[in-house]
Amino acid sequence: MVKTLVLYYSATNTTKRIAKEIAQKLDADIAEIHAAQPYTAADLDWNDPNSRTSIEQHVHDTRVEIKDDLPDAQNYDNIIIGHPIWWGIPPRMIADLVDKLNLNGKYLAMFATSGGTGYGRSQSFVERAVEENNYDVVVNKGAVLNNSHQIISWLNGLKLAK
Ligand SMILES: Cc1cc2nc3c(=O)[nH]c(=O)nc-3n(C[C@H](O)[C@H](O)[C@H](O)COP(=O)(O)O)c2cc1C
Repeated sequence: MVKTLVLYYSATNTTKRIAKEIAQKLDADIAEIHAAQPYTAADLDWNDPNSRTSIEQHVHDTRVEIKDDLPDAQNYDNIIIGHPIWWGIPPRMIADLVDKLNLNGKYLAMFATSGGTGYGRSQSFVERAVEENNYDVVVNKGAVLNNSHQIISWLNGLKLAK
Protein backbone atom coordinates (compact mmCIF):
# COMPACT_ATOMS: atom_id res chain seq x y z
CA MET A 1 0.00 0.00 0.00
CA VAL A 2 1.26 3.46 -0.91
CA LYS A 3 2.12 5.66 2.06
CA THR A 4 2.31 9.43 2.20
CA LEU A 5 3.94 11.64 4.82
CA VAL A 6 3.15 15.32 5.27
CA LEU A 7 5.99 17.17 7.02
CA TYR A 8 5.45 20.79 7.94
CA TYR A 9 7.11 23.66 9.73
CA SER A 10 4.80 26.37 11.04
CA ALA A 11 5.78 29.27 13.31
CA THR A 12 2.27 30.71 13.77
CA ASN A 13 -0.02 27.79 12.79
CA THR A 14 -1.12 28.96 9.33
CA THR A 15 0.86 26.27 7.51
CA LYS A 16 -0.15 23.76 10.16
CA ARG A 17 -3.86 24.20 9.28
CA ILE A 18 -3.21 23.62 5.57
CA ALA A 19 -0.93 20.65 6.33
CA LYS A 20 -3.65 19.00 8.42
CA GLU A 21 -6.21 19.42 5.66
CA ILE A 22 -3.84 17.94 3.07
CA ALA A 23 -3.02 14.97 5.34
CA GLN A 24 -6.71 14.34 5.92
CA LYS A 25 -7.53 14.49 2.19
CA LEU A 26 -4.67 12.09 1.32
CA ASP A 27 -5.14 9.81 4.34
CA ALA A 28 -1.47 10.56 5.07
CA ASP A 29 0.63 10.57 8.22
CA ILE A 30 1.64 14.00 9.45
CA ALA A 31 4.57 15.28 11.50
CA GLU A 32 5.82 18.69 12.54
CA ILE A 33 9.38 19.85 11.81
CA HIS A 34 11.10 21.69 14.65
CA ALA A 35 14.16 23.90 14.53
CA ALA A 36 16.94 22.57 16.79
CA GLN A 37 16.91 26.06 18.30
CA PRO A 38 13.25 27.22 18.41
CA TYR A 39 12.26 30.64 17.06
CA THR A 40 11.06 33.26 19.54
CA ALA A 41 8.65 36.07 18.66
CA ALA A 42 11.64 38.44 18.52
CA ASP A 43 13.40 36.04 16.12
CA LEU A 44 10.42 36.34 13.75
CA ASP A 45 10.34 40.16 13.65
CA TRP A 46 10.76 41.11 9.99
CA ASN A 47 10.78 44.81 10.86
CA ASP A 48 14.05 44.32 12.72
CA PRO A 49 16.95 43.98 10.27
CA ASN A 50 18.97 42.33 13.04
CA SER A 51 16.39 39.70 14.03
CA ARG A 52 17.41 36.07 13.66
CA THR A 53 15.18 35.46 10.63
CA SER A 54 16.26 38.70 8.91
CA ILE A 55 19.90 37.65 9.19
CA GLU A 56 19.44 33.95 8.38
CA GLN A 57 17.21 34.54 5.38
CA HIS A 58 19.40 37.27 3.89
CA VAL A 59 22.76 35.59 4.31
CA HIS A 60 23.15 33.19 1.40
CA ASP A 61 23.77 29.56 2.37
CA THR A 62 23.13 30.04 6.10
CA ARG A 63 22.60 26.62 7.65
CA VAL A 64 19.85 26.13 10.23
CA GLU A 65 19.56 22.75 11.87
CA ILE A 66 16.33 20.88 12.43
CA LYS A 67 15.63 18.90 15.58
CA ASP A 68 16.34 15.22 15.14
CA ASP A 69 12.76 14.03 15.71
CA LEU A 70 11.55 13.14 12.20
CA PRO A 71 9.69 9.95 11.27
CA ASP A 72 11.69 7.55 9.10
CA ALA A 73 11.14 8.65 5.48
CA GLN A 74 12.00 5.15 4.31
CA ASN A 75 8.51 4.05 5.33
CA TYR A 76 6.91 6.39 2.76
CA ASP A 77 6.50 6.64 -1.01
CA ASN A 78 5.33 10.26 -1.14
CA ILE A 79 6.75 13.12 0.92
CA ILE A 80 4.92 16.44 1.10
CA ILE A 81 6.74 19.36 2.74
CA GLY A 82 4.92 22.50 3.93
CA HIS A 83 6.46 25.74 5.21
CA PRO A 84 5.83 29.48 5.50
CA ILE A 85 7.65 31.82 3.12
CA TRP A 86 10.19 34.04 4.86
CA TRP A 87 11.74 36.82 2.82
CA GLY A 88 10.71 35.15 -0.43
CA ILE A 89 12.10 31.68 0.32
CA PRO A 90 11.55 28.75 2.72
CA PRO A 91 13.01 28.97 6.23
CA ARG A 92 16.65 27.90 5.89
CA MET A 93 15.98 24.78 7.96
CA ILE A 94 14.14 23.31 4.94
CA ALA A 95 17.54 22.78 3.27
CA ASP A 96 18.67 20.83 6.35
CA LEU A 97 15.46 18.81 6.17
CA VAL A 98 16.15 17.90 2.53
CA ASP A 99 19.71 16.90 3.51
CA LYS A 100 18.45 14.64 6.30
CA LEU A 101 15.60 12.90 4.45
CA ASN A 102 16.71 10.23 2.05
CA LEU A 103 14.47 11.13 -0.90
CA ASN A 104 15.80 8.54 -3.34
CA GLY A 105 12.99 6.80 -5.20
CA LYS A 106 10.31 9.05 -3.74
CA TYR A 107 7.77 11.55 -5.01
CA LEU A 108 8.18 14.99 -3.44
CA ALA A 109 5.76 17.91 -3.36
CA MET A 110 6.06 21.20 -1.50
CA PHE A 111 3.51 23.81 -0.48
CA ALA A 112 3.69 27.03 1.48
CA THR A 113 1.61 29.74 3.07
CA SER A 114 2.60 33.38 2.71
CA GLY A 115 1.33 36.92 2.88
CA GLY A 116 1.22 37.02 -0.92
CA THR A 117 4.58 35.85 -2.27
CA GLY A 118 4.28 32.98 -4.75
CA TYR A 119 6.18 29.68 -4.79
CA GLY A 120 8.73 30.47 -7.55
CA ARG A 121 11.87 31.21 -5.53
CA SER A 122 10.94 28.54 -2.97
CA GLN A 123 10.81 25.98 -5.80
CA SER A 124 14.35 26.92 -6.85
CA PHE A 125 15.51 26.74 -3.21
CA VAL A 126 14.18 23.20 -2.72
CA GLU A 127 15.33 21.99 -6.15
CA ARG A 128 18.84 23.23 -5.40
CA ALA A 129 18.89 21.32 -2.10
CA VAL A 130 17.65 18.19 -3.92
CA GLU A 131 20.34 18.55 -6.60
CA GLU A 132 23.08 19.06 -4.03
CA ASN A 133 22.14 15.70 -2.54
CA ASN A 134 21.94 14.01 -5.96
CA TYR A 135 18.60 12.49 -5.05
CA ASP A 136 16.78 10.46 -7.66
CA VAL A 137 13.35 11.89 -6.81
CA VAL A 138 10.31 13.18 -8.70
CA VAL A 139 9.90 16.83 -7.66
CA ASN A 140 6.43 18.28 -8.20
CA LYS A 141 5.66 21.95 -8.77
CA GLY A 142 5.01 23.58 -5.41
CA ALA A 143 2.29 26.10 -4.62
CA VAL A 144 1.15 28.66 -2.08
CA LEU A 145 -2.14 27.38 -0.71
CA ASN A 146 -4.69 29.47 1.20
CA ASN A 147 -7.94 27.52 1.10
CA SER A 148 -9.61 24.18 0.41
CA HIS A 149 -10.34 25.03 -3.20
CA GLN A 150 -6.65 25.67 -3.88
CA ILE A 151 -5.64 22.55 -1.96
CA ILE A 152 -7.94 20.32 -4.01
CA SER A 153 -6.84 21.69 -7.36
CA TRP A 154 -3.13 21.45 -6.39
CA LEU A 155 -3.54 17.86 -5.15
CA ASN A 156 -5.33 16.90 -8.38
CA GLY A 157 -2.34 18.03 -10.45
CA LEU A 158 0.35 16.21 -8.46
CA LYS A 159 2.32 13.26 -9.72
CA LEU A 160 2.48 10.92 -6.71
CA ALA A 161 2.92 7.18 -6.17
CA LYS A 162 -0.56 5.68 -6.31
C1 LIG B 1 10.32 36.49 9.20
C2 LIG B 1 9.14 36.46 8.28
C3 LIG B 1 9.30 36.79 6.94
C4 LIG B 1 8.20 36.75 6.07
N1 LIG B 1 8.42 37.03 4.74
C5 LIG B 1 7.37 36.96 3.88
C6 LIG B 1 7.55 37.19 2.48
O1 LIG B 1 8.66 37.41 1.99
N2 LIG B 1 6.46 37.15 1.68
C7 LIG B 1 5.20 36.90 2.16
O2 LIG B 1 4.26 36.87 1.40
N3 LIG B 1 5.00 36.64 3.48
C8 LIG B 1 6.04 36.66 4.34
N4 LIG B 1 5.85 36.38 5.68
C9 LIG B 1 4.50 36.00 6.12
C10 LIG B 1 4.36 34.47 6.27
O3 LIG B 1 4.79 33.81 5.10
C11 LIG B 1 2.89 34.08 6.50
O4 LIG B 1 2.37 34.79 7.59
C12 LIG B 1 2.77 32.57 6.71
O5 LIG B 1 1.44 32.17 6.41
C13 LIG B 1 3.13 32.14 8.13
O6 LIG B 1 2.98 30.75 8.26
P1 LIG B 1 3.02 30.00 9.67
O7 LIG B 1 1.90 30.57 10.51
O8 LIG B 1 2.78 28.58 9.33
O9 LIG B 1 4.35 30.27 10.28
C14 LIG B 1 6.92 36.42 6.56
C15 LIG B 1 6.77 36.09 7.92
C16 LIG B 1 7.86 36.10 8.77
C17 LIG B 1 7.67 35.73 10.22
